[in-house]
Amino acid sequence: MKNTVSTFKEQKAKGQKISMLTAYDYSTAKLMDQAEINGILVGDSLGMVVLGYEDTLPVTMEDMIHHTAAVCRGAKNALVVGDMPFMSYQVSIEDAVYNAGRLMKEGKCQAVKLEGGASVCPQIRAITNASIPVMAHLGLTPQSVNAFGGFKVQGKNEDAARKLLEDAKAVEEAGAFAVVLECVPAKLAELISKSISIPTIGIGAGAGCDGQILVYQDMLGMFSDFTPKFVKQYTNIGDMMLQAFRNYITEVESGAFPAKEHTFAISDEVIQKLY
Ligand code: KIV
Repeated sequence: MKNTVSTFKEQKAKGQKISMLTAYDYSTAKLMDQAEINGILVGDSLGMVVLGYEDTLPVTMEDMIHHTAAVCRGAKNALVVGDMPFMSYQVSIEDAVYNAGRLMKEGKCQAVKLEGGASVCPQIRAITNASIPVMAHLGLTPQSVNAFGGFKVQGKNEDAARKLLEDAKAVEEAGAFAVVLECVPAKLAELISKSISIPTIGIGAGAGCDGQILVYQDMLGMFSDFTPKFVKQYTNIGDMMLQAFRNYITEVESGAFPAKEHTFAISDEVIQKLY
């Protein structure tokens, strides 16, 4: 069954949790789709886990379109959300609608995500008015890493917690169909989830959210630069890859690879004629 913004809303109404992961390429998206994930975010975390930047700020619209299109070719049933990169929506409402439109037209995703609360509501309103569903993102919004002074838990004191609650209500009112809550204390995320009618998708925000999302390299143990506290590693593919790469190198060096079954035959007669 195709997941849509409507099925996300229905899942919240029925109390069914929503599963999401990030993906950046065709074959990973295809596997997630086969596993029946509800939604895939082509996150601008791409910049860190795929492109090797220190943060998400250098990611471009071209990067996002390229990877979103690849994911959409692999995901037939998951709702694919394309992330709007830093400075693709902050400067003006026109920019925001134009770039959201590009992500949808060229990337072929079914929704876009952008970071921020009340301050980006004019953009959320304008993009949704252009019939492009918007997922909002509150809490630790990585594009604001310099303003926050690092990757830190948000909403811990009363003022900050109240602001997050108000921002969640504001993005709902502006037309967002869902909101990511990143690195928010669990009890606050639960309160926010109960206070709005759109689904909350948590990452480091506890079990009270309506759904969960993880960066797939984190949950598979493939990204070792740092592992946030909220990550659960479901397996350690990183170690398996390392071992496989080492085995390959050893076999290439020893000549054990390629074996006969990995090669193509030609008749000896043909070869003889070449001597
Ligand atoms: O870019 C991303 O992957 C994200 C998720 C962590 C929510 O924004």
